[in-house]
Amino acid sequence: MDLAAFRALEPFCWRAPSAHNTQPWRLRYESGAIHVGWHAAHTLPAADPTGRDLRLSLGAFVETCLIVAADAGLRLEFIASFDEQHRQVGRLRPARHRYPTPFRTTDVWQRRTDRGRFAAGPEQQTLDAVDSVARQAGGGLLAVPYPDRLGALLRAADRRLYADPAVVTELRRWLRLDPTHPSYHADGLNDRCLALSRPAATGLRAALAAYPLLRRLGLPRLLAAADEPLARGGAVLVLVGPADLDRPGQVEFGRVLLRVWLTLHTAGLAAHPLSQLIDVDATRTALGALLDVAPDRLLHVARVGRPTRPAPRSARRLGTV
Ligand SMILES: Cc1cc2nc3c(=O)[nH]c(=O)nc-3n(C[C@H](O)[C@H](O)[C@H](O)COP(=O)(O)O)c2cc1C
Repeated sequence: MDLAAFRALEPFCWRAPSAHNTQPWRLRYESGAIHVGWHAAHTLPAADPTGRDLRLSLGAFVETCLIVAADAGLRLEFIASFDEQHRQVGRLRPARHRYPTPFRTTDVWQRRTDRGRFAAGPEQQTLDAVDSVARQAGGGLLAVPYPDRLGALLRAADRRLYADPAVVTELRRWLRLDPTHPSYHADGLNDRCLALSRPAATGLRAALAAYPLLRRLGLPRLLAAADEPLARGGAVLVLVGPADLDRPGQVEFGRVLLRVWLTLHTAGLAAHPLSQLIDVDATRTALGALLDVAPDRLLHVARVGRPTRPAPRSARRLGTV
């Protein structure tokens, strides 16, 4: 197989989702294979100190590469070889068969995180379908039984994160609240994707700029109370992994996460991750208790539902096809 043919498809692969839209992946073409690694500068040491979301994002990227290659008729397989020290997750190499997947490049291209209003949550049939995707990898997809109880947990998690200057500094680095920002069309979280009106974006920018001064005057509480995602509808789904999932296993679950999101997408649904619920120990423990699952098995949380209008497309560093 001509690996150069894959290079032309990279902009499609770049549509993979990543926490804060840092697009941490890095491809290196060498010795007849494409090595998948990551850039240290595109990780989130404050918001994602364990690297869980980094590894989920890298797995989502690997799965996206395999889908895009298969749809173009290129036979590629992924050989995992996780190496923290050299920041490598494995390599894509020529295979005898095309990667088996029900998904197409158009699904990869069209899928979007949607932080807007949802008309309804997923039907039982879709819940069963995504649960089956996770079960095939030894995990599961659980719907939170009492989503109304999550409001207080979400506010508690947000307050805790907004109270941490390192998390806020890092978030500011990836926020693109003004269209004149030099990386507005390249990466990060922009005002449109965050569903912020112009005044709200300007207000948030000003509040975060004054953060060192306002932190002790209750800014974290104010910021946490400013958004109520659960009021915008949908169900809350939790991706659960097997007990004692190791780091390479988390990369594998990133692949599962992408398959879950594409299954939702092809059913006309979208996901809005709420990772803060499992980023903070106390809310993670409370969520685990609500689901009767050991807290360290919770890998990802998202509000899921049927969008009322198309969400804006997020930026990518490799954007032109
Ligand atoms: C592992 C992971 C964790 C994420 N956590 C959050 C989150 O807590 N809140 C949020 O609004 N978006 C979250 N996202 C969504 C990303 O911000 C989104 O994928 C990125 O901005 C690119 O946008 P897209 O998904 O529309 O392509 C997460 C994505 C991934 C892969």
